[in-house]
Amino acid sequence: MRDLLPDQTPLWQWLEREIGQVIGAYGYQEIRLPLLEATELFERSIGEVTDIVEKEMYSFEDRNGDSLTLRPEGTAGCVRAGIEHGLLHNQVQRLWYQGPMFRHERPQKGRYRQFHQIGVEAFGLPGPDVDIELILMTRRIWRSLGLAALELQINSLGTADERAGYREQLVSYLREHEELLDDDSRRRLTTNPLRVLDSKNPALAGIIAAAPSLLDFLGAESRAHFDAVCAGLRAAGVAFVVNPRLVRGLDYYARTVFEWVTTELGAQGTVCAGGRYDGLVEQLGGRPTPAVGFAIGLERIAALLETAGGGEGRGAPHAYLVAFGAVAEAEALLLAERMRDCLPWLRLVMHCGGGGPKAQFKRADRSAAAVALVLGESEVARGVVGLKPLRVEGEQEEIRSDELAGVLAARLRAD
Ligand code: HAM
Repeated sequence: MRDLLPDQTPLWQWLEREIGQVIGAYGYQEIRLPLLEATELFERSIGEVTDIVEKEMYSFEDRNGDSLTLRPEGTAGCVRAGIEHGLLHNQVQRLWYQGPMFRHERPQKGRYRQFHQIGVEAFGLPGPDVDIELILMTRRIWRSLGLAALELQINSLGTADERAGYREQLVSYLREHEELLDDDSRRRLTTNPLRVLDSKNPALAGIIAAAPSLLDFLGAESRAHFDAVCAGLRAAGVAFVVNPRLVRGLDYYARTVFEWVTTELGAQGTVCAGGRYDGLVEQLGGRPTPAVGFAIGLERIAALLETAGGGEGRGAPHAYLVAFGAVAEAEALLLAERMRDCLPWLRLVMHCGGGGPKAQFKRADRSAAAVALVLGESEVARGVVGLKPLRVEGEQEEIRSDELAGVLAARLRAD
């Protein structure tokens, strides 16, 4: 579980803002959900024979002896809340959420025990149009963040019945090669054979590549849905690859699944993943409701942006105000308030604690501010403020106090 330090939070604030703005542009509304849910909710939704439920959940008994779990993902809680508050029946809901998720995984680059997702879920819409909308939304998010090199992989998992037919064929195929499987895959053969396709063991790559394809087992409706999603993406100019081995690590999916992946983060290359889960609402006690969604892993997005140098300089103050002597110090507090009144975007740090010019300018420099504002007794007496660039060469200028807001607005970017 990581601490996010002050030099990292500006990048996070920015990317959360950008993503939120794009999601808002599609008319999705925010829902805020608890971090704790009944353990049973995740067992029933994510699936008992998944890595998450088998070995990654933070579960404990509360004082009443009820088993609770720190949410490992957001979809289950969103569906639970939707059912509980009557948001889903005979309605269309377009929702999003963000926040920490918890999985007791082996920590490594891009994989943490507390991580953050922004998730988007659409309820009540059965057609391929909303699958396409969600993928277009993700593309717009990458564009707004300046992320270019992501690859979209999609697949269809069909319906539960179609998957059952496939499962049989897959198991008999894998049994033919059982001696080549590793322990984990052999175990999965009886518990959750589709997950064998997700094995990262290079020794299994050949067997997996030659395995029967789920896409060949789709019925007419699932096939038409998948074809329509592919056609819609092509029409919108979204490049994608069909990956028939894409199975996802949670059991609730049916039909469309997709992942956005990068090669720049090593083994943890999936930055966003999701798909359709038409059966889940009913499975959790609601009326049958089609649903589709995705979640973005923010640690991985932040890592990509940092690799690209996107974090630098973000969030630094625009200006650092130094003041020398009691009269100037008192005036500086008032001047700083006037600037904040006039320029709500301005990040202005007031030097507190006095000290000589050398010490104060040193702090100004360390703050990474673009400019220093300088106030001594003589400036106060003449109604002016010194303006000294800190990041580029340049002399200190004198600006009339009543013109300062205008000058700052013209020279400093309102980012
Ligand atoms: P997921 O694939 O388990 O799906 O997680 C979505 C994304 O969260 C991953 O692609 C990854 O970027 C990030 N992520 C997952 N685990 C970690 C971790 N330990 N450390 C850092 N990042 C991680 C879901 O959670 C589904 N609820 C997505 C969804 C929403 N499907 C439909 N609606």
